[in-house]
Amino acid sequence: MEGLAGKRALITGGAAGIGRAIALKLAREGCDIALFDIDAGAAEKTAAEISALRRDAKAATGDVSDMASVRAALAQLTANGAPFDILVNNAGIARLGSLLTISDKDWRDTFAVNVDGVFNVTRAVVPGMVERRRGAVVNLASWLGRRGHPAFSAYAATKFAVVGMTQSLAPEVAPSGVRVNAVCPGLIGGTPMRDALDATSEAAGLPRAAERAKSIPIGRIGTPEDVAKVVAFLASDEAAYVTGAAYDVAGGLWMT
Ligand SMILES: NC(=O)c1ccc[n+]([C@@H]2O[C@H](COP(=O)([O-])OP(=O)(O)OC[C@H]3O[C@@H](n4cnc5c(N)ncnc54)[C@H](O)[C@@H]3O)[C@@H](O)[C@H]2O)c1
Repeated sequence: MEGLAGKRALITGGAAGIGRAIALKLAREGCDIALFDIDAGAAEKTAAEISALRRDAKAATGDVSDMASVRAALAQLTANGAPFDILVNNAGIARLGSLLTISDKDWRDTFAVNVDGVFNVTRAVVPGMVERRRGAVVNLASWLGRRGHPAFSAYAATKFAVVGMTQSLAPEVAPSGVRVNAVCPGLIGGTPMRDALDATSEAAGLPRAAERAKSIPIGRIGTPEDVAKVVAFLASDEAAYVTGAAYDVAGGLWMT
């Protein structure tokens, strides 16, 4: 893909699931990769997979919801002074519960990671891109950032916020040559988050994601690689005229 080779990409939550697929896709396209994840063991494992692709791979452990942790991780990841050309705000969590009964802790934890996390890392990385007058940011929202859904009140509210942050920041930094886009994945299988959601659904007598394939026009649930390809496109120069967009990667599950 045009304009990715030799770039440096920071991926939050890049150790597992969709973030790992994005890291591997960008590495295959010639990017050097920095992973920032709360799970040190998984991050080291993914970093080793990237090194095997002969790209530079660094991993730092920390929590995106804590600005001190963000600053410490970034200091570690930029120790050689090389700035980031690409930021993928991917780290996210899902806590289920009705708006009327979800615990205060689950509500606040979801906002802390999914909203404050994007806010913190964006504020730490994007000013450098603006200064250098180039860069691409891709935020992981969700199809639940397009519509609400029973039991997903906190999660949907945070993903609407991610789309809102994307659409607000994009025009602010566009004159400086920095692009900001979002992807809105639908039902994506094969990630720790999806496995946990499937287990919760099953316990509540609800269908697992794969059983909902019939309701998806393309006829299957998505893979982390389906999402990674669109993220790579948005990060590349092939999307040079795309900013402020929120791309649905949902097999037609929800169309905007
Ligand atoms: N799986 C889906 O069906 C789906 C659908 C739509 C959107 N998404 C979004 O895509 C992104 C990735 O989803 P996934 O299914 O791969 O999730 P996942 O839970 O499988 O992986 C998330 C990664 O983020 C890391 N992480 C979690 N909290 C963190 C924190 N506070 N600081 C740093 N790292 C942290 C985890 O350790 C993990 O490596 C999320 O933002 C999610 O909301 C997922």
